[in-house]
Amino acid sequence: MGNAEPFACSCVCGKTLKLEKHQAGRLAFCGRCDQAVIAPTENGGDAFQFTTDQETPELVISLGGQKDWKRIHAVTSDEENYKYEISEPDSAKDLKDYLASVRFPHGVHVTGIFQFKIERKSDGELVGIISLTLDHEYATGTLGFMIHHLFAGQGFGTEAVTELVQFGFKGLGLHRIASMCDATNEPCMALLRKTGFTHEGCMRESVRTKKRGWVDVAMFSWLARDYG
Ligand SMILES: CC(C)(COP(=O)(O)OP(=O)(O)OC[C@H]1O[C@@H](n2cnc3c(N)ncnc32)[C@H](O)[C@@H]1OP(=O)(O)O)[C@@H](O)C(=O)NCCC(=O)NCCS
Repeated sequence: MGNAEPFACSCVCGKTLKLEKHQAGRLAFCGRCDQAVIAPTENGGDAFQFTTDQETPELVISLGGQKDWKRIHAVTSDEENYKYEISEPDSAKDLKDYLASVRFPHGVHVTGIFQFKIERKSDGELVGIISLTLDHEYATGTLGFMIHHLFAGQGFGTEAVTELVQFGFKGLGLHRIASMCDATNEPCMALLRKTGFTHEGCMRESVRTKKRGWVDVAMFSWLARDYG
């Protein structure tokens, strides 16, 4: 493939990583210690680790694991949260399997999915979930999120999406962050616009859902160069 010029850097475990030029400044995984690291932007430097846990004024956003499945399931099994969703509510088994498959760091390496839980700082209540799925050799991330209807309209969605955009660009060195939703999902589209995403357009009848049949999907994105 085109831009295949390799460069070398040291992982935190000491192993020399051979990376392609386009991986400079971005997420890489070490084959020896299984760490997730950010490659240096300069040839020959050291890779460094990054933190996955984020704190905002109202929220703690951290990786969701199998131990959290019951609290996450309270969100992902509630029909009311799926009014505009393309997927269906989760069964307990599917959710547990999924959380096992995305376990950091190895599961993220394999699936490309960072799955976060969103907790209210004041009392630890799990108010929603948000995921960043990596694609195109880690240059693009796609955000998906769900705030439990019991906690909607309090600014939590705005705060979580804003934080994860920062994590994607400043933490992981992504080039582009995308998000998409049912084109009739006004709350979500308003949130994406409010958090600085550009509306790219609509993929007409691109997804077929069980209850609503074919739905139009609205596409949104942020580019790193516009983020600053
Ligand atoms: C869409 C969703 C994430 C919004 O989360 P939230 O925490 O309620 O959103 P916020 O309180 O931060 O509100 C952000 C903006 O969204 C818009 N919004 C929120 N609820 C709305 C509603 N019921 N109707 C219209 N706009 C709404 C508003 O513009 C709001 O900004 P404002 O308060 O300055 O007017 C949440 O409703 C949700 O998870 N829904 C179900 C799952 C889903 O649709 N996920 C997105 C697909 S990936």
